[in-house]
Amino acid sequence: MSPSHPTELSGYAEKLIRGRRATRAFRPDPVPEETLRAVFALAGAAPSSSNTQPWQVEVVSGSLRDRLADALQAAHAEQRTTVDFPYREDMYSIAQQRRRAAFGTALYGALGIGRNDHAARAAFDAESLRFYGAPHVAFLFTAGDAGARLAADVGIYAQTLLLAMTAYGLDSCPQGLLSFYADTVRGELGLDRGKLLVGISFGYADESAPVNHITTDRAALDATTTFRC
Ligand SMILES: Cc1cc2nc3c(=O)[nH]c(=O)nc-3n(C[C@H](O)[C@H](O)[C@H](O)COP(=O)(O)O)c2cc1C
Repeated sequence: MSPSHPTELSGYAEKLIRGRRATRAFRPDPVPEETLRAVFALAGAAPSSSNTQPWQVEVVSGSLRDRLADALQAAHAEQRTTVDFPYREDMYSIAQQRRRAAFGTALYGALGIGRNDHAARAAFDAESLRFYGAPHVAFLFTAGDAGARLAADVGIYAQTLLLAMTAYGLDSCPQGLLSFYADTVRGELGLDRGKLLVGISFGYADESAPVNHITTDRAALDATTTFRC
């Protein structure tokens, strides 16, 4: 779909925004430090309420990344979950539940996991705590005693970061699941403050993995957006 009044930037924006997709199998190759710094510096240009920039970003790589993956899997096995931002299954509307189900069908279909194979689905979730094999993971915390408004700012930062990664040739997967182990993440990183909103695994996609070729559609414009005058 092309915009009706294209500008030079709109073409890039279409490519960038539509070119990002969640990656769930990575090659182990690390991202050069120079690229890491450029990407996170660019993400810091995200807007926030009164320019407060209420995010605290922890980028984890190397042996700490490996230790953290082990700790997350241990916490998962022992059901030691802690969430800073409450989650409820019933928060989703019927339409949202339908989209979720369609996404699950595409994801588990690509993995060859059957609809009722709960054990295989659980094993995939447990394995995802190793960041889908990504060499890096960024944890996005809200600095301070955050409620929904600060979390919204950090959410905006998150999308800015995802797009900055795409622009620099990096692949990524935001993982809300990681935020269910907030105490484990804080413990391993030696943090005593900040609320964990989301983790973002990133690196370079393993293009040979079928899971990286699922497509997700979006609701029709009119289903989510009303133009009034
Ligand atoms: C806040 C947030 C949390 C997410 N949590 C997970 C997750 O825990 N595991 C996962 O595999 N994908 C997760 N995703 C990725 C979504 O499933 C994905 O963005 C969505 O299906 C749309 O697909 P796309 O990113 O390829 O366009 C999350 C995305 C967002 C924005």
